[in-house]
Amino acid sequence: MLQCSKMGTPGCVAIRESSATTVLLGCAVDNTSYGPGETTDDGAEPGAKKVFVKTFGCQMNVYDSERMTEALVGHGYSATSAIEDADVVILNTCHIREKAAEKVYSELGRIRQVKDARRKAGNDTVVTVAGCVAQAEGAEIVHRAPVVDLVVGPQSYHRLPELLRRRKAEGRIVETAFPEEDKFSKLPKRRTIGGPTAFLTVQEGCDKFCTFCVVPYTRGMEYSRPVAELAEEACRLVERGVKEITLLGQNVNAYHGEGPDGRPWPLAKLIGHLASIDGLKRLRYTTSHPHDMSDDLIAAHRDQPKLMPFLHLPFQAGADRILAAMNRKHTARGYLSLVERIRRTRPDIALSTDIIVGFPGESDSEFEATLDVVREVGFAQAFSFKFSPRPGTPAANMSDQIPDEIKSRRLARLQELLDSQQTRFNASCVGRTVPVLFEKPGRHAGQLVGRSPYLQLVHAEADAAWLGRIVPVEISCAAANSLSGVISPL
Ligand code: 5AD
Ligand code: SF4
Repeated sequence: MLQCSKMGTPGCVAIRESSATTVLLGCAVDNTSYGPGETTDDGAEPGAKKVFVKTFGCQMNVYDSERMTEALVGHGYSATSAIEDADVVILNTCHIREKAAEKVYSELGRIRQVKDARRKAGNDTVVTVAGCVAQAEGAEIVHRAPVVDLVVGPQSYHRLPELLRRRKAEGRIVETAFPEEDKFSKLPKRRTIGGPTAFLTVQEGCDKFCTFCVVPYTRGMEYSRPVAELAEEACRLVERGVKEITLLGQNVNAYHGEGPDGRPWPLAKLIGHLASIDGLKRLRYTTSHPHDMSDDLIAAHRDQPKLMPFLHLPFQAGADRILAAMNRKHTARGYLSLVERIRRTRPDIALSTDIIVGFPGESDSEFEATLDVVREVGFAQAFSFKFSPRPGTPAANMSDQIPDEIKSRRLARLQELLDSQQTRFNASCVGRTVPVLFEKPGRHAGQLVGRSPYLQLVHAEADAAWLGRIVPVEISCAAANSLSGVISPL
C-alpha cells in the first residue's frame, strides 16, 4: 500500500465549465491556499492580481493550464473566470490542426477589445499565448497579433512568474526554448480542487514522428516523469478529494520513468503502484499507441480492478499503404489482432480511437478500408478528423493532397458509422447497473452528472451529497452522447 503523508485537507468542489474543445479554467485552482496575513512564494499579497486562463485542445493542455494557474497563485495571483477583471490573460493553445490554431487569432481579436477597455480605465492587461501555437509560431505571433505581450512554450511555463516580472522591465518576451531543467520539479505542489477527477501528466512529447503530426515538434522528445514524483502528486490529489486520476501522455504507454529502484518502470508497473493509494478509486490513461501496447499493460486491464475498462487506441487509417505513409509502425491487421488480444483479456473493455480521413493520396478504396476496420472493431467512442496539413510536417508537402469536398464527404460517412456504433454501445447499457462517479451538478436542479467505467456521461436524480462518490446507477435511458438512470438502493 502506498502511504501518503497528510499534506492538506480536501477543499470544496469547484465546477469546471467545459465544452468539447474549450475549457474555461476560472475556478479550478484553490485561491484560498493562503490564510489572511500569509504571504505567497515570493512574498506578494495573496490574490492581489487576477489571472484568466482559456484552454484549447487536449487534456494535457487542461493539466498545463491548472499548473500555470497554480504557479501564479503562488506569486500573488488568484484565478478568475471574468476576463474583464484579469491582469493576466493566458490562452493555452493547440496547434494540432489548422482550425484549432486559427481559433487563437480570433480569440486574440476579442481580447484586444478587453485590453483597450481596461487600458481606458487605467489598468494593464498582460496577454499571454502559451501552449503549442506558442511553441510552433513563436515570434510570428507578436507580429500577427501585436496585442500579445508574452509567448511561452509548453516547456517553459514554470517560468511564468519570472517572465511576467521581466516583461514589466523588458517589454514583449518570446520564450520557446526547451530548457535544461525539468519543469515539473520546478512547479509548486498541486493546489487544484477541480472536483473528484484529475489529470496527471506522466509522460510528455513523442518520438514516433507520424508524418501528419506536429506533436514531436511542439512538445519535443519523449520524456517520462520519475515514479516517486508522480506518486507524490497523486497522493496530494487524493488527499484533496480526488477519486479518479487519468494519467496523461502524448504516447502514455511508452512511459518509462525512473522507478524507486533506479530502473525504468513501464506504465503497467506505475499503474500498479498508484493503484495502491488508499482512497484512489479509479485510474485511466490516454493516449496510447498500438506499437506500445505491451502484454503487461493489457494484463493490467484484467488484474487491476482500479484500472477502468476503457482504452483510447488511435488507428488513424485502415489501408496499410496509408499507414506506412503516415509512419504509424502498425498495419490494419496488426491493429485488429491487438484489439482481439485486448478483448480476450478484458472482454467488456470499451474502445475509442482517432481516425484521419483524406491523408495525401488516400483513394476511395483506401478510405473504404478505414470503414472496414471501424466495422470490424465496433467503437464505443471515436474522434475523426479531416487531414489538415501542418507546416513543417512531412505530410504537408506530400503530393496528391485530397480536395476538401472529398475529405468532407468521407468524414460525413465515417461519422455516420461511428455515431451509430456509439449509439448502439450506449443502448446496450440500458437495464444494466453501473458504478458512476458523480462529478458535478447536472443542468437541472436535483440532478448530478458522472461517468461510468466506460467513460459515458451518466445523469441521475441525486442528492448533492453523492458528489465525489461512486454509486450504482441502473441505466434506464440511452442517448447518442449520454445515459441516464436511477440510483440503485445500496
Ligand atoms: N490532421 C488531422 N488530424 C490530425 N491529428 C493529428 N495531426 C493531425 C493532422 N495534421 C489527429 C490524430 C491524432 C489526434 C490527436 O489528432 O488523429 O491522434
Ligand atoms: Fe503525433 Fe501520436 Fe504520432 Fe506521436 S504517436 S507523432 S503524438 S500522432
